[in-house]
Amino acid sequence: MRGGTDNARAFVVKRTQAGLGLFTARTFARGDLVIEYTGVLLSTEAADSRGGRYLFRVDSRWTIDGQGRENLSRYINHSCKPNCVAYTRGRRVLIYSRRKIQPGEELCYNYGKEYFDAFIKARGCLCSACRGSEDGSRNGEGGSRDGGGGNGNGRRQTPRR
Ligand SMILES: C[S@@+](CC[C@H](N)C(=O)[O-])C[C@H]1O[C@@H](n2cnc3c(N)ncnc32)[C@H](O)[C@@H]1O
Ligand SMILES: [Zn+2]
Repeated sequence: MRGGTDNARAFVVKRTQAGLGLFTARTFARGDLVIEYTGVLLSTEAADSRGGRYLFRVDSRWTIDGQGRENLSRYINHSCKPNCVAYTRGRRVLIYSRRKIQPGEELCYNYGKEYFDAFIKARGCLCSACRGSEDGSRNGEGGSRDGGGGNGNGRRQTPRR
């Protein structure tokens, strides 16, 4: 499956153990802008009452609902050893590479503890770092807002169920 117009050749959506995932068809150098997390900008209050797995909290006031299929970055899965990191710039969410990424690699970033605990922990993390670990919840290495990766953000989603 391919998507988008500008991104049609740069990314490929493919099935993974964690559902659909986003793969790159090109090389990224460390620090490159990979993709923007786009969608409908909502007040965080409205987003919290709406709920969903594709909400990305920009700050306490604003949240992006990225569920639209034109937002290819919605397919980026969580990893505890991510190759990308999400940063907020004003009301935008930009996803950068943390290292050189080769064509064919799956793109991933650390969603952060709040999202991880709400949506991933119970069934176990299926990222490449955790598959094979006993409890499937290593959730340790950088790239989230909670730890490594500078001031990069995880999903900052407000989970509601
Ligand atoms: C933003 S979506 C990512 C794309 C999703 N795989 C899909 O098919 O649409 C986030 C959801 O994907 C799944 N997911 C992402 N990363 C995961 C991981 N490391 N382990 C298990 N599930 C994951 C969870 O269901 C999570 O709520
Ligand atoms: Zn993991």
